Amino acid sequence: MPVETKPPIASGLPEPAAPNVTEWLAPEPGPSAVKWPSPRCVELAHSKLATLSLAEKIGQMTQPDRGQLTGTGDVEKYLLGSVLSGGGSGPTRNEPAAWLEMVDGYAKSARATKSAIPLLYGIDAVHGHNNVQGATIFPHNIGLGCTRSPELVERVARATAEEVAATGIDWTFSPVLAAVRDERWGRTYEAFGETSELAELLGPAAIRGFQGPKLGGSPTGILACAKHFIGDGGTWLGKDRGNAIVDAQAALTLHLRQYQAAVDAGVGSVMVSYSSLNGTKMHAQRGLITDILKGKMGFAGFVVSDYAAIEQLPGNYTEQVKSAIGAGVDMVMGAKTFQGFQSTLAALVPKDIPMSRIDDAVSRILTVKCEMGLFDAPRARPPLSVIGSPEHRTLAREAVRRSLVLLVNRNDTLPISSNVSRLLVAGRNADDIGNQSGGWTIEWQGGSGPITTGTTILQGIRRAVGPTTQLTHVRDGHGPAGTEVAVVVIGERPYAEGNGDRSDLSLDPEDVAAVKNAKATGAKVVVVLISGRPMILGEVADLADGLIAAWLPGSEGAGVADVLFGSEKPTGKLGFSWPKQMADLPINIGDSHYEPLFAFGHGLTYP
Ligand code: BGC
Repeated sequence: MPVETKPPIASGLPEPAAPNVTEWLAPEPGPSAVKWPSPRCVELAHSKLATLSLAEKIGQMTQPDRGQLTGTGDVEKYLLGSVLSGGGSGPTRNEPAAWLEMVDGYAKSARATKSAIPLLYGIDAVHGHNNVQGATIFPHNIGLGCTRSPELVERVARATAEEVAATGIDWTFSPVLAAVRDERWGRTYEAFGETSELAELLGPAAIRGFQGPKLGGSPTGILACAKHFIGDGGTWLGKDRGNAIVDAQAALTLHLRQYQAAVDAGVGSVMVSYSSLNGTKMHAQRGLITDILKGKMGFAGFVVSDYAAIEQLPGNYTEQVKSAIGAGVDMVMGAKTFQGFQSTLAALVPKDIPMSRIDDAVSRILTVKCEMGLFDAPRARPPLSVIGSPEHRTLAREAVRRSLVLLVNRNDTLPISSNVSRLLVAGRNADDIGNQSGGWTIEWQGGSGPITTGTTILQGIRRAVGPTTQLTHVRDGHGPAGTEVAVVVIGERPYAEGNGDRSDLSLDPEDVAAVKNAKATGAKVVVVLISGRPMILGEVADLADGLIAAWLPGSEGAGVADVLFGSEKPTGKLGFSWPKQMADLPINIGDSHYEPLFAFGHGLTYP
């Protein structure tokens, strides 16, 4: 087992000293399924590079958010190689046609430059094309992790890529490959689970789904981005952008090996983590980015920084740019001012940053653009009608039901008969598509209420029950006496990144009260938990006759009803170890002392 330094409890203990690592270990490259770069693209990148001025090269390395631009003409003016939409950053009218028009405008501006190098437009399509109104919202990765199905994950990513490509966008910042060691972290739900093996199993499947079997090999393929390199899920107390304290063996077995699987699957881009490793920001870790990832691991794509991450490095801005570009970052996302980044970098070349480093960055970017077919004649795009199409929603419903984990089922309370006479549906997450979708939905932080289209869990239940069932919906659980079965849907409200960091994962008192109120009707109580991580269940674990972890299922709540009423059996298996109490954290499979409430891999089914 790797040596991992662990805090026993959230006690505010000072961080331990970092182990003295003199050399990082590299994973063994596997047989690469993907043969790239191709000689054609190496040649194209090489000859194109020879024609570029320093300003044009630096332009390729610059990726502002569209919100930082004054108009599409800025792409031509500043010779930009890439633009992104950060969470919630989109056209004024949030509808697919407006997205397409907007992205096409930027792409056209890139073609108007002297070099005419095509633009790469990036977005966080992390559970479907989640910024776009009307898109299919798939379960977040924490749910997909419980399916343990590379085949399903690949189909979900493929459908997502189609919706993204329909809006003219070429690149998604996904998948997250973190092994999340402490679920106090607000980004827990973006990852597949607590082990690197789960990321290793499902990350490559997502990459194949997004990119196609080969980068550029599919007309609707988009560029994938493995993130956040490395150690984002291993920080002390689960603090977002915090510090992971690891020896070389732990770095390899928990945080690095899944990136080798991604490289072997042909991933074209990798994003660096905001976090630090043993006290040094990852964006300054040349040994890991250049020597290990690009060197020993054989990564042929390009490395992108995280949003305004350079500004978090020590020193003044000149020193920050020098250390990140020197460490091997090829493209800089969301610089505080992108013009400032361009002039600062230009002044550093060649004295502090050799031209060979700039050429390495730009040729990697050009090679990926070539492999994706961006230099070729325009590809046929999927029609806008794929966005939120019935086929994709059916797939999302399948993903929902396969991601549910049946934790408890006393006296075979589940499945519920669809002819149940008196059914109560309660809880604040029963009829809330925003809450069931979580963060990174329409807005960066997500939001409660009808923020997008789809089916709430309550709506799914209404469709699943027979005509004779009397269904009452009472949010606080005060249902009629004589209720036969109550389904109480509780849990978290949406958040993203550091806003989701918590030192206490106990259930909200309102949720506990709803369960108790439902129980007081005399009903058998089935609790459905909507959450981005395991939570401290306390007395609810005993009160519930049936208990389902539904994670953040997304827009297709009918998938929850499929399992509740038994048209499909639950098959999900926990990708996390479920703590009994806060003092158990962090708790992970393989710990020498391991007494979870539910073990990693737990998941019941119906006979
Ligand atoms: C996140 C990344 C994301 C980027 C762009 C950052 O805040 O850490 O995961 O891809 O924003 O939206």
